[in-house]
Amino acid sequence: MTHPTDSILIVDFGSQVTQLIARRVREAGVYSEIAPFTTAEAAFARMAPKGVILSGSPASVLDEGSPRIPQAILDSGVPIMGICYGQQVLMQQLGGNVTLGESGEFGHAVIEITDDCVLFDGVWKTGEKHTVWMSHGDKVSALAPGFRPVAVSPGSPIAVVADDSRKYYATQFHMEVAHTPDGAKLIANFARHVCGLTGDWTMAEFRAAKVAQIRAQVGSGRVICGLSGGVDSAVAAVLIHEAIGEQLTCVFVDHGLMRTGEAEQVVSLFRNSYNIPLVHVNAEETFLAGLAGETDPEKKRKFIGGAFIDLFEEEARKVGGADFLAQGTLYPDVIESVSFTGGPSVTIKSHHNVGGLPERMNMQLVEPLRELFKDEVRALGMELGLPQAFVGRHPFPGPGLAIRIPGEVTKERCDILRKADAIYLEEIRAAGLYDTIWQAFAVLLPVRSVGVMGDGRTYDNVLALRAVTSTDGMTAEAFQFPGDFLPRVATRIVNEVKGINRVTYDYTSKPPGTIEWE
Ligand code: XMP
Repeated sequence: MTHPTDSILIVDFGSQVTQLIARRVREAGVYSEIAPFTTAEAAFARMAPKGVILSGSPASVLDEGSPRIPQAILDSGVPIMGICYGQQVLMQQLGGNVTLGESGEFGHAVIEITDDCVLFDGVWKTGEKHTVWMSHGDKVSALAPGFRPVAVSPGSPIAVVADDSRKYYATQFHMEVAHTPDGAKLIANFARHVCGLTGDWTMAEFRAAKVAQIRAQVGSGRVICGLSGGVDSAVAAVLIHEAIGEQLTCVFVDHGLMRTGEAEQVVSLFRNSYNIPLVHVNAEETFLAGLAGETDPEKKRKFIGGAFIDLFEEEARKVGGADFLAQGTLYPDVIESVSFTGGPSVTIKSHHNVGGLPERMNMQLVEPLRELFKDEVRALGMELGLPQAFVGRHPFPGPGLAIRIPGEVTKERCDILRKADAIYLEEIRAAGLYDTIWQAFAVLLPVRSVGVMGDGRTYDNVLALRAVTSTDGMTAEAFQFPGDFLPRVATRIVNEVKGINRVTYDYTSKPPGTIEWE
């Protein structure tokens, strides 16, 4: 793959938040690639980066066989910045010492700046105290020769270290997470002031790099791309089409679990605006039949994921076989579905485009958005010329309304939910709130309640409304509507949607809740 030489290599030691480092580097206008520590040496030779960032890790440098920095990187003279485990492993390999902390530091910590450092340029001054996010058990107990401490924390006298002659820097805290409010600026300082990068890399270059990467991966193979109706798969499809044109066939599996008017919008966008051939499979009956009687959220997700793949395989056969399956998988889907280390980790939900894939699938995956966050996908969509109204749409999960109908999914329940959801979104748009909300939707609960309408008793469904703010879907806060908004929507829904006689609002943040109910 071609790549800008003005890049930073991120060596991944298995941290859950390595992609956040890449994101911060992108925000600083610098191209970066992540390579697992096992292949970092080859990536380093290929990229010739201007700097290297070492990630955190669930491992301990004190464990036998724990990951190490390739010697070639240390011998190269390229600037290095270590984060958490990255700091410890750097110290250990350069002749310092790491010991098991008696008590680790987890969560917010306050560090004190004790000396000047290029990482702090324009951000922090000597003597100041600042909040950072710590998550470590081990700590550096003796500095490697050539380093000086430039910040301390209550739990580690060596919170930040610097060796200006070699341009090596390292922090005990995680500067890539939002809980370290100034962290992004420290990363930008490393990229610009230490590595000398100009910070003029743009989404246009990301697009060009991805196009080249897709061409290299696919060769002359055929790709089939599953459209879910959402922004992610649409952006992935348009990008792949730019890369390989006619080698791509888009399949829109209409599972009948879409919102009002959604299927038509997707079909018209692809066929009319982009002239991308699209196979529209109307599979509502198949999905509803398969979901009949099923109430378990994971089984519902797995069934939908499996049925998607079945239909793709069938379409792939019809177009004469495909070697690759393309999907709009985003980074939050990846980390919430699989463990980076490959070890046993808790599956929160099987996202249908990652964890729900049946083993039997015999196509390779093309996932060009795998390292991006939602707002970055939107920026890429705009770069590709997708209409703002489409790109700005709230995220919609692959399994569709099925995971917004806890309990059994039936056509009747889908129709009730569609009507209520449409009213809710119509009111949100009318109030000018659509773009300030990350995601808003209705959930049809498997609960009936007693009501009174006119002179009669009703015994009908309860609907929950949810709206959240978020920047990447990984954490979220309930949206606070202006005072009269929710009562107005509740009244409209109960009056206009037959089958619903009570409306509630979900105030749960994520965590501990998730955004979707299933
Ligand atoms: P949760 O419910 O896990 O959702 O907090 C986080 C974000 O992911 C969306 N979501 C999905 N997207 N396939 C997708 O493409 C899925 O299976 C899926 N499940 C949840 C959800 O709507 C939210 O934006």
